[in-house]
This record gives sequence, C-alpha cells and structure tokens, in this order.
Amino acid sequence: MSESLRVWFLASEVAPFAKTGGLADVAGALPSALKKLGVDVRVGLPFYRMVRDGGFATRMIRERLKVPLGEKTLVGDVLETATEGGVPVYLFDLEDIFDQPELYGTPEGDYADNLERFAYFCRAALLFAKEAGLHFDVVHCHDWQTGLIPAYLKTLYREDPALSHVASVFTVHNVGYQGLFPADKLAACGLPATEFGPEGIEYWGKISLLKAGIVYADAITTVSPMYSREIQTPEFGLGMDGTLKRRSADLYGILNGADYSIWNPATDRHIRANYSLGDMKGKAECKSDLIHEVGLDQRLAGRPVLGIISRLAAQKGHDLLARIAEHVVRLDAGLVILGAGEEKYQTLLSELGQKYPENMAVMIRFDEPLAHRIMAGADMLLVPSRYEPCGLTQIYALRYGTVPIVRATGGLDDTIEQFDPKSGEGTGFKFADHEAGAFLEEIKEAVKVYDDKTSWKKLVKNGMRADFSWEESAGKYVLLYEKVAKRALPIC
Ligand code: ADP
Ligand code: GLC
Repeated sequence: MSESLRVWFLASEVAPFAKTGGLADVAGALPSALKKLGVDVRVGLPFYRMVRDGGFATRMIRERLKVPLGEKTLVGDVLETATEGGVPVYLFDLEDIFDQPELYGTPEGDYADNLERFAYFCRAALLFAKEAGLHFDVVHCHDWQTGLIPAYLKTLYREDPALSHVASVFTVHNVGYQGLFPADKLAACGLPATEFGPEGIEYWGKISLLKAGIVYADAITTVSPMYSREIQTPEFGLGMDGTLKRRSADLYGILNGADYSIWNPATDRHIRANYSLGDMKGKAECKSDLIHEVGLDQRLAGRPVLGIISRLAAQKGHDLLARIAEHVVRLDAGLVILGAGEEKYQTLLSELGQKYPENMAVMIRFDEPLAHRIMAGADMLLVPSRYEPCGLTQIYALRYGTVPIVRATGGLDDTIEQFDPKSGEGTGFKFADHEAGAFLEEIKEAVKVYDDKTSWKKLVKNGMRADFSWEESAGKYVLLYEKVAKRALPIC
C-alpha cells in the first residue's frame, strides 16, 4: 500500500469549535471521513474567543511563531486539540485579532481588519507546517478566508524546498462571499505587487481573496454538481463566472454529506424523544415539545408545523417567506423560524412573529440545540433560497422525517426529489421560480399530502431512507487529492 496522503485542511470555521453555518459542519465532518479512508489529515482554524471559551481541552505547542505580513511581523501562538474522531486540530492564536465576540463581524457589518486577520491565519498555517516538518502533499482550503493560501504557494513559496511541492485544492462554499478589500491593503496580504492584476487577485480595482483561491489553486471544487455548473453563468456567478469558466477544466462539483453521528433522530441528545424509521412515536413527542417550547398554540399539534433554520442573509429567500407568512397562517399551519444575521431580516421576521403570535414563533439567535429540536419537531422544513451551493438543513431534515420544501437550485435541486403522490416516489417538494406564488403552491401541495396520512407516511419514509453519508464524497476528494499531488496511479 502506498504511503498515506497528508492533507492540511484549513477553514475559518469548524464544528464543534466555531460555527456560523454549513462550512463548519463540512469542516467538522469531512476530515473524519477522510481519516477513515486512510488519509493523514490535520485541521487548522483561528483560535477565536468562541473557541477559547468553548471548554475544549487544548495544549500549547508553539509559542511566539513569527509571521511576516507586509512591513509588519506578527507574533502568535499555536495550540493543539482534536476532534471526537481523533483528527488533530491546530488553533492559530493572535489575541489582538481573534479575541472578538463573533467570527467575522456583527449584524451591522464585517470587522474592519478581516483582511489582516485571515492573511495572518493563512501565512501562519503554512509557516507552522513548514517549521513543524508536517510534509503535507495537499492543502485543502475553503472560501475567501483561506484564498491567500494557494496564492502564497504559487508566489512566495514557489521555490521553497519545504512547500514548493504542496498542491492546493480550494473549495468554494458560496460565491456570494468574495473577500473584497480596497487595493491599498495589498501590502498587508504580503503578496508582491505584480499579483495585483486581472490574472491575479485584482477584481474590479479591489482585492478579492475568493478570486485568489480560484486563480492560484491547482483544483477548485464546489459543494454540489448543479452549483458547479450554475456559477459559470452570469446569473449565479455573481461576477466570478468569467474567472470560474477560465478554470472550468479544474473545477469539480462534489456534493456535501451529512454527519449522521450528529444529525440522527435515533441518537440525538438535544431532542425530547429519540425515534427512527422503525419506531416513529418519538416524533410526535418532539412536535408537541417544540410547540410548547416556542409558545405556539397547542391546537397546532394536529396541524402541519413548518420550520426554518437559517442564516439571515439575502441568499436565503426570507423575502419570499415574509410574503407567504399570512397565507400559511390562513392554512392554520405553524411556522417556527430560527435565524441570526443581517439586521433587516431580523426586523422583518420579528415583526411577522409579533403579528401572528398563535401560529408563528421567531427566534433571532444562533442556537444549536434548538436547531435540532426544530429539525425533529417540525413536519416540514422550508428552504426558499435564491441560490444554494449545497444546503445542509434539507439533507438533515430528510433523516428526521421532516419533509423539505425547497427552491430547485444548486444543491437543493441535487438532493431533493419531487414527491409524486401517484407513484409514491420522491422525498420533498420543489419550486422553480424564485417567486412567492410558486413557493406557496408547493406549501399547499405539501399540506394536501400531509392530510392524506398514507401518502404522508410514504413520503416521510422515502426521506428517512435516503443516505447522504460522507463516505462517497470523501472518496471523491481523495481521488482529487491524489490527482493534484500527482500521485494518481497511471492507467494501464
Ligand atoms: P449555510 O452554510 O449557507 O448557512 P447550510 O444549510 O449549508 O447553509 O448550513 C447551515 C448550518 O447552520 C446547519 O447546520 C444549520 O442547522 C445551522 N444554522 C443556521 N442558522 C442557525 C441558527 N440560527 N441556530 C443554529 N443553527 C443554525
Ligand atoms: C455555504 C453554502 C451552503 C453550503 C455550505 C457548506 O455556506 O451557503 O449552501 O451547504 O456552505 O458547504
């Protein structure tokens, strides 16, 4: 057997250490799946205040690592911990910049020093790997926060004996977050001025760290096959379509998986009663527990309860939700919304909740245990996204017997199959146009099926049987790592 592939897996959020969305779930689960396939994988992330206060057992392994950035040299520490699956995790500490209440900013806006924060993380991760002799074959990095890594490898470290052979894979989880900064911050990136051009990190006169990742990486992936095609079009590329198209030969769509050790109603520690395909009694208990917890009218125990768990951002389609809320109330259904993010959506949704207190409960916060209880207690989960690279909540919902109603875009389209009451096949409901009427039609269709207990049971079971475990997708990443590390066996 060949020697293990060595992969340095770098992300700005990793569950359970720090999370704002699905990237953390992926970065928390994929490394364990890779480890099971024999990859020697290590994870790196910033040592945010949230991680420091999270009660994880850590140990200091490198004090005062010197990291040059432009004219400055920043000096920070590296701590070590591990995931439950035994994957080593390195935490990059620099008190002044990571000791903040949130990861990237507040509802009012992003932190002003985000470029410096993540440039530090990228450079420190490479320097530490070099100094500690970790001999990685591949760096797998994610989203704009790590976009400088492929750029550093192709410029600053191109001739470096310890790093020149390291290949890079850059995963785009969301093309809407482009890491844009003013051009005068170039020096703080630590890159030569020659890289600030259309073939480099320049994007309409600004620096784009997302573009850096796309341009310099050896391979680019995104998180569903459908989204990999969509982002090469002007409608979904959000300005990056040209750059992505130029790299189309090296761009792959690999679907995210679900970590069923965390998202499984049979073992979930956050929910009132466990249940499974063979014994569904617990789901009704979870529903009445949720209705009680969020303060909905008790009569809704006999009516459909619709849940939403999402970041509050334009991408997620909360505008559509606001337009259909009144109609959902008229159907005498319940609507439970959990979300945190942009101020304008916090206000929009809170006002709706106050308008319909019997049928609607709106919780504006990040609350992991409550997310599990909504997943288990709701009958349906709404994901009306404008665009969705993959989406994880609809995948988790399937396992919880909670029927997804989704907009047919990106990973939502790849993972949910339209239910056909005649054949009894399918796992959920999908609408094509980002339009309130189309969304409401599918909700009404779902409520109709809900009222026909035999069809509903069949639909719920189809979803619970679907398998989105990580193994298959992790295998695809391994093939890609081998390809970029030029370790693929010749085909005879
Ligand atoms: P995105 O990454 O775009 O936010 P995903 O569907 O891929 O969307 O992943 C969202 C993840 O974040 C899921 O694990 C979901 O449960 C979680 N999540 C989103 N908002 C909240 C919230 N307010 N409280 C708790 N968990 C949340
Ligand atoms: C992004 C996307 C989401 C995806 C997640 C994990 O945040 O918005 O669709 O599931 O990353 O890849």
